[in-house]
Amino acid sequence: MDISRSGEWAALEANHEAVAGKHLRELFAEDPGRAERMSLTAGDLYLDYSKHRATAETMELLLALAEKAGLRERIEAMFSGEHINVSEDRAVLHVALRMPADAKLVVDGQDVVADVHAVLDKMSDFSGRVRSGEWRGQTGQAIRTVVNIGIGGSDLGPAMAYEALRDYADAGITARFVSNIDPADIHGALKDLDPATTLVIVSSKTFTTLETLTNAKVARSWLVGALGEEAVAKHFVAVSTNAEKVAEFGIDTANMFGFWDWVGGRYSYDGAIGLSLMIAIGPERFREMLDGFHTIDEHFRTAPFEANMPVLMGLLGIWYTDFFDAQTRAVLPYSQRLHRFPAYLQQLTMESNGKSVQADGTPVTVPTGEIFWGEPGTNGQHAFYQLLHQGTRLVPADFLGFGEPLEDAEGMHDLLTANLLAQTSALAFGKTAEEIAAEGTAAEVVPHKVMPGNRPTSTLLAPRLTPSTLGQLVALYEHIVFVEGTIWGVDSFDQWGVELGKKMAMDLAPALTSEEPPAQAPDASTAALVRKYREMRG
Ligand code: F6P
Repeated sequence: MDISRSGEWAALEANHEAVAGKHLRELFAEDPGRAERMSLTAGDLYLDYSKHRATAETMELLLALAEKAGLRERIEAMFSGEHINVSEDRAVLHVALRMPADAKLVVDGQDVVADVHAVLDKMSDFSGRVRSGEWRGQTGQAIRTVVNIGIGGSDLGPAMAYEALRDYADAGITARFVSNIDPADIHGALKDLDPATTLVIVSSKTFTTLETLTNAKVARSWLVGALGEEAVAKHFVAVSTNAEKVAEFGIDTANMFGFWDWVGGRYSYDGAIGLSLMIAIGPERFREMLDGFHTIDEHFRTAPFEANMPVLMGLLGIWYTDFFDAQTRAVLPYSQRLHRFPAYLQQLTMESNGKSVQADGTPVTVPTGEIFWGEPGTNGQHAFYQLLHQGTRLVPADFLGFGEPLEDAEGMHDLLTANLLAQTSALAFGKTAEEIAAEGTAAEVVPHKVMPGNRPTSTLLAPRLTPSTLGQLVALYEHIVFVEGTIWGVDSFDQWGVELGKKMAMDLAPALTSEEPPAQAPDASTAALVRKYREMRG
């Protein structure tokens, strides 16, 4: 279907004509009930979307677009295990990773909920043994540090969540994360660790990923060098869907935690890929996080679209991307603990919806894929917010905040939140030339100080950063991606675009060290760069 040819799309274009010229000041003046009306709760999350350049009519038209795109049917198709990842002919069932044990979902003849809980129980048992010290390393000492080796979805999820929840790490076990093929990463992570008290988790869905396997080999040599070959069984475990490759690497598959091809890498940290997190915060906290995910899954599946948080936020993403030509979306957590959340969302959103063809292989007809980026507030305020306030680009932004701090001093948490609220207000309403002149500003300086406002934001508040609220936030963004992918008609669950570069790197690698001229450099520029690199490499 070409959604841009639908009557619903045309109606939105007409609405855009009417709304684009309006300032948020006017929208609020015309509609005093706007702040109350354009807000809603899902689980513990509260969303204020009144500071968006949208009227009640805009929202109605966006909801009609969602119906037209078949969003209702698509949600049901995902939750019931249809193969909606068409290019890989797979079900998409990350929602099953957090279904309660008494639920049942039979897909392709298999009760996936039972499978999920069998793995969760195995993870809980193992985590419990590591946390209590019952699981001992080669020299009989308990584990103090877990090193997760993985990349992309096998790194960003657990790394982000560990940073977010490290205040809950109550067993004295810390986690480190190694992902990059840059040797600095693994060396930096291992250099001050004692192999005797370190557990390495090799996390890779495919167990073929160059970065992960190379880093894992380096870690293995480091361990074997210190403690001997037989130490591997006590210091290495794996998380993967590929038992054969795990065994080939030399890890006993009894120490392997599995998942399934119906879990995409970027949707996987609430399953076995979260093992490092579970060891750090404990199985109970991990399960609280899963309950948080599930709360938002149920909300997404059952709430009417006009009161459905992921649906409304996804539709607003469409509104700015396709009607206002916005290129990017900032995610600004007012929580230092969420400092890896924007990076995590980059993979989730951009690997999912950075597509140029629809699910049937025909070209998309409208711009797709928001560029996600961000940093925690207030740091970002002193870096890039200048452009958000006075630049020429429209950057819709999501502001995230929490009612209660995990720790506080000198009223810092209230100051943090005051900054969040001040920023969204300044972005929306700005300050006019008249107001600035009235303050006695010299005429020639007035234009520099004008704050145009009319910059749209969502504000998301949760009572406290807990395992549950983190799960709710992640599920919210997973489903926002789903809503946008459905409107754009893309397959949000494949990632073919990453393959070519991987293959070319493997083809190029021998040329970097060979004495021979590079025989098959892919192009003249790359051939010249290979020569220059060789000169520099010495
Ligand atoms: O290169 C992209 C990617 O395939 C991601 O989708 C995935 O999360 C990551 O690589 C790691 O893959 P694996 O878990 O198989 O090592």
